[in-house]
Amino acid sequence: MQLTMIGTGYVGLVSGVCFSDFGHDVTCVDKLPAKIEALNRGDVPIYEPGLQDMMAKNVAKKRLNFTLDFETAVGNAEAVFIAVGTPTRRGDGHADLTYVYAAAREIARSLKGYTVVVTKSTVPVGTNREVARVIRAENPDADFDVSSNPEFLREGAAIEDFMRPDRVVVGIENDRARGVMAKIYRPLALREAPIVYTDLESAEMIKYAANAFLATKITFINEIANLCEKVGADIQSVSKGMGMDQRIGSKFLHAGPGYGESCFPKDTKALARIGQEHASPVKIVEQVIAINEDRKRQMTDRIMYLCGDKVAGKKIAVLGVTFKPNTDDMRDSPSLTIVPALVGAGADVHVVDPQGRKEGEELLPSVTWIEDAYTAVQGADAVVVLTEWNEFRALDLVKMSGLMNDAKMADLRNIYDPAEARAAGFEYVSIGR
Ligand code: UGA
Repeated sequence: MQLTMIGTGYVGLVSGVCFSDFGHDVTCVDKLPAKIEALNRGDVPIYEPGLQDMMAKNVAKKRLNFTLDFETAVGNAEAVFIAVGTPTRRGDGHADLTYVYAAAREIARSLKGYTVVVTKSTVPVGTNREVARVIRAENPDADFDVSSNPEFLREGAAIEDFMRPDRVVVGIENDRARGVMAKIYRPLALREAPIVYTDLESAEMIKYAANAFLATKITFINEIANLCEKVGADIQSVSKGMGMDQRIGSKFLHAGPGYGESCFPKDTKALARIGQEHASPVKIVEQVIAINEDRKRQMTDRIMYLCGDKVAGKKIAVLGVTFKPNTDDMRDSPSLTIVPALVGAGADVHVVDPQGRKEGEELLPSVTWIEDAYTAVQGADAVVVLTEWNEFRALDLVKMSGLMNDAKMADLRNIYDPAEARAAGFEYVSIGR
């Protein structure tokens, strides 16, 4: 099948590469010449395990190409995927749909023959219907249907999530469009991945509700962790014991410094906004947004407290600044609140992150970037774990504490055992225990 992806951001690029790996012929289009040139050279603009190899393999097999030529790419396609950004609109928390509708108008002008226009970007309820209206207004003769096909992949595990999804959600209005979508996802259906066919509005709502639920689950466990600290319980045991209940499930029950990356913050805000506008507020999600914001500040206070409420002139080593491991993404990372607060209070912050430096250098000025954890902690007055990269899990704690001026540790991801850290000489604080 001939498929075209509009937008080579995270979702567009990963989906395009994976569709080509199914054997479809995929053309990825972007407006930025530098991006297309880089992709044609084989450079992947994001850090995502396995993506570069899969991309190179499918380019070599001539099933995957990158172009600026929108018109030809859309004209040839049986399905065109809109995978452009939907950032939070400044001021009101709404998803900004400018790029989605601009893509729809441009697609309308280039359509040839029956085509399904599929929205993969996360969009508010009603957007797919509006995309159809925009296309019809721009090109009344166009032969097309729309489909809502939200993406659930996680950064850092994107290929695995795309290839082995818990489910694929497809919103459609008729059997003709369903037939095309079924053909696209046939390789996954053959592997018995469940495919949920539903109406456009439900597909759009599933994506927001799923992300908001996961953000709520994390926020819930973070608040329980706070309470554990007060009553002398251990959040690790509490999460384990709760998660074994299959109705609850063990995933997304890890207490930490608050969720980051643009999707949870962006989608919870958009859902809260949709609720308010329809006079059906989703109050639990409104609370989640406020609690998560507050949490990042609480984490700074925790580090300050560990340092005797005085960090001016002290050296603090920070391990990890990306919003989670296996990504170079810094968007809405708790580090963007915590590190500037420490720098603002006069601390000399030294940062180590296996992939975060490229984005982080601009976002976190006034810090020193170091290549390895042992060098970073040398002479430091405290070390803070912000991201649970695997390479931080097996550090030699005795060696580390020996290198430090004052062996204090704030482990905000609970990657070390408190007894072991204390035995290694650390004054140690973590989350919920
Ligand atoms: C999330 C969803 O998991 C994906 O299903 C969805 O497709 C994606 O958003 C999206 O809408 O684009 P992602 O943001 O890549 O994926 O990362 P997650 O693994 O979900 O982590 C999000 C945040 O929650 C991170 O800051 C992570 O540290 C935090 N988290 C996660 C916790 O604090 N505790 C947990 O138990 C799990």
